[in-house]
Amino acid sequence: MREPLIIQAGMGVAVSDWRLAHNVARLGQLGVVSGTALDSVLVRRLQLGDPGGHMRRAIAKFPLTQVGERVIEKYFRHDKTSTTPFARLPLPSATPSRESLEILVLANFVEIYLAKENHDGKVGINYLEKVQAPHLPSIYGAMLAGVDYVLMGAGIPREIPAVLDTLSRNEDTTYGLYVADAQPGDNFRLKFSPREIMGDKLPTLNRPKFLAIVASNTLAIMLAKKISPPVDGFVIEAPSAGGHNAPPRGKLQLNERGEPIYGVRDEVDLVAMKALGLPFYLAGSRGSPEDLKAALEAGASGIQVGTAFALAQDSGLSPSIRAQLLKKIATESLDIFTDPRGSPTGFPFKVARLEGTNSQADLVAARVRVCDLGYLREPYRKTDGTIGYLCPSEPVDHYVKKGGAIEDTVGRMCLCNGMMANIDQNQWQASQQLERPIVTLGDNVECVHRLIKKYGAEYTSQAVLEYLLNGLAETSPTKEKSVLDRLTP
Ligand SMILES: Cc1cc2nc3c(=O)[nH]c(=O)nc-3n(C[C@H](O)[C@H](O)[C@H](O)COP(=O)(O)O)c2cc1C
Repeated sequence: MREPLIIQAGMGVAVSDWRLAHNVARLGQLGVVSGTALDSVLVRRLQLGDPGGHMRRAIAKFPLTQVGERVIEKYFRHDKTSTTPFARLPLPSATPSRESLEILVLANFVEIYLAKENHDGKVGINYLEKVQAPHLPSIYGAMLAGVDYVLMGAGIPREIPAVLDTLSRNEDTTYGLYVADAQPGDNFRLKFSPREIMGDKLPTLNRPKFLAIVASNTLAIMLAKKISPPVDGFVIEAPSAGGHNAPPRGKLQLNERGEPIYGVRDEVDLVAMKALGLPFYLAGSRGSPEDLKAALEAGASGIQVGTAFALAQDSGLSPSIRAQLLKKIATESLDIFTDPRGSPTGFPFKVARLEGTNSQADLVAARVRVCDLGYLREPYRKTDGTIGYLCPSEPVDHYVKKGGAIEDTVGRMCLCNGMMANIDQNQWQASQQLERPIVTLGDNVECVHRLIKKYGAEYTSQAVLEYLLNGLAETSPTKEKSVLDRLTP
């Protein structure tokens, strides 16, 4: 398999959706769909009437016909208005119902099926390690549709390479669940049995490659040398990247704006990375042909680009949010704030300051808290040894009643609902509030400036690829032929 030069990054909840990944992959680079919350995304797309019929077309290809029919019967409708709530799924749990498992497998299948439809380019799926409960059925569903790469950050994905091996053989698979306050002797593991879902229809599956998203040499060494099987490669993400960032090493220090300060200790040693002998990609403000050239010269296989693709016309981002962002970028008035507290995960999170979104503290304070998606809840051990769930963004009294510290709840935003609102799947809550977006982008939007200048504000993912790859050819004429070879599959 030829290694791609450019990875179109996994973003948000369905910002990098099947359409974006499809458009990138068919042009010979790695298109990545976001695997986060795909079950909710699928059932909401159906409730919005499935414009274009894409969900139903992919569901019809799912090997378990009855599962697909049940989901369509239950969720597909035409009468949704902005003040009728979306029907919700049960919250993710370590012991999901059969129906929850089926929807996860189906939703991941659908997204990859559509991203891979009618071309032979490579498609990946990106998950957050911290969102553990859906991992096994999600990865299996993506594998049923032939996913080529799995990428994972926001945690230590030490078990994933082995999981890919066993799932590709359709074997029963387990995954170590992090449970706060676990006692010695506890062994909390998620379990998934392909046979229980598929019955006798067990297909032959390819084992996708696994790229771990890391921000330190120590973690890279561990994942390359100390686990078996090792990872297949890395994305090295700098703290300027959009989305969540790794916290800075050492004691947290904030600048005058209240953002985490990163220093030399947070830089990854690329010579040491190269010595590991595995492919690696650089991410975070790497959105120009010069960046791509520099990455290749440093021994990287290429770059992973998020921000430039998030603002492409064919991304899943809400068109009105995209228009607001582009306007601000054009006038150089977009402020990106690295919020050390906002995300319930505890990781710093990049927030684009945009009117009418939850980047405004007064709007966050006015929101009636509700935890009705639950992807970021953290499992904890209850005194009776069973598992409970906590999220510092849930209603404060619930959090405190379950033993959480009240100070943990201060300044937290509900990323689950915010992320769904970013793709125009805002929930209408019982409090009569429509959920507001929480938009994230990388620190460096210079690439977007350049793209708008060259291709106009309606630039597409194809324009991003042309800009990066043709530009590379211009900066290094000797590479011209091989680069252009790669632009078309
Ligand atoms: C809108 C947006 C959403 C993102 N969401 C995620 C995510 O859910 N999971 C993840 O691992 N990375 C996420 N990222 C980070 C990207 O995968 C990528 O590494 C990063 O965007 C690269 O840096 P750049 O934004 O400067 O191009 C996101 C980035 C953006 C811009």
